[in-house]
Amino acid sequence: MDIKGDFFVLGIETSCDETSAAVVRNGREILSNVISSQTDAHRKFGGVVPEIASRKHVELVIPVIDEALKEAGITPERLGAIGVTYGPGLAGALLVGVSAAKALAFGWNLPLVGVHHIEGHVAANFLEHRDLEPPFVCLIVSGGHSHIVYMKDYGEFEILGQTRDDAAGEAFDKIARALGLGYPGGPQIDRAARAGNRDAVKFPRVYFDGESLDFSFSGLKTAVLNYINGFVQKGEPVPVEDISACFQEAVVDVLVNNAFRAVRLKKAREIVLAGGVAANSRLRERFREEAVSCNCSFYYPSPVLCTDNAAMIAAAAYYEFRKGRIAGLDLNAVPGLRLGTR
Ligand code: KG4
Ligand code: ZN
Repeated sequence: MDIKGDFFVLGIETSCDETSAAVVRNGREILSNVISSQTDAHRKFGGVVPEIASRKHVELVIPVIDEALKEAGITPERLGAIGVTYGPGLAGALLVGVSAAKALAFGWNLPLVGVHHIEGHVAANFLEHRDLEPPFVCLIVSGGHSHIVYMKDYGEFEILGQTRDDAAGEAFDKIARALGLGYPGGPQIDRAARAGNRDAVKFPRVYFDGESLDFSFSGLKTAVLNYINGFVQKGEPVPVEDISACFQEAVVDVLVNNAFRAVRLKKAREIVLAGGVAANSRLRERFREEAVSCNCSFYYPSPVLCTDNAAMIAAAAYYEFRKGRIAGLDLNAVPGLRLGTR
């Protein structure tokens, strides 16, 4: 679809435990990105409680949208479209954002664009790096997903590898919980690992036979949990820093090896990181080193754009809109939405 002049998209994201709304200009420039995190409400349960998430989204979605418009200095008449995450995610949580987006699109007479949450994570890089364009290889690692994709063009993904069980972030969260580090676990392990020895113990790394670039983290998770239990049963102090460092190194090894195999397979010149785990300092460090030895450019978003936010959804919606992919007012939440389907 041809777009003349500046095009402003209002993005809405409610797939998990952040209520977020943002205004983005021409798919690349953030005018506002309001994120209301519910982490405090879920912390005492050690993870996201879906029912609490839905209720919080209902309370917050309209005030957050109001604030995003106000901060951007944009009135609804100047918007070109509304983009909303419609999957994957928690059903009740997604429904809140989708319902709000549909009501506003109807009331303000604006086109509605349904965005795949993972495509949003990839698009976070377009906000950070205005020169970045497909094709590139992208590793998306979040609390719910681990994918290696080849992004051929905007909105066109070839899946090269994905997790067969736990997502990388899920493994971080579970191990952090077992180590008593609290929720969300990724940032805590990242911090604890800095004081640990990554050679203290060798945890398993799983690679599949042949060409597969899939991941599996459940064996690693069990091995680390058993190792922790060994200390608990003997009444010995658990070496939290060393375990954090060795667990993190095992996850990072597999992510780096598979992602750079994908780079070589596709003869890509660019490797991109996305998703909450992309904020991990060791993962970034290893990607930086590997990218130098592969002679390719490495892109990653700043931490606030790695985790869930609506600016990335607005950016993805802009490119979907340009492709003419506009949703009807019958758009529904699809909790198990797969990448590459629409
Ligand atoms: O992308 P995201 O906000 O939500 C999903 O779409 O799932 O990712 C959240 C995940 C959590 O599992 C969190 O522990 C992890 O990202 N995470 C990290 C770091 N920061 C967030 N994992 C490792 N190291 C970090 N620094
Ligand atoms: Zn996410």
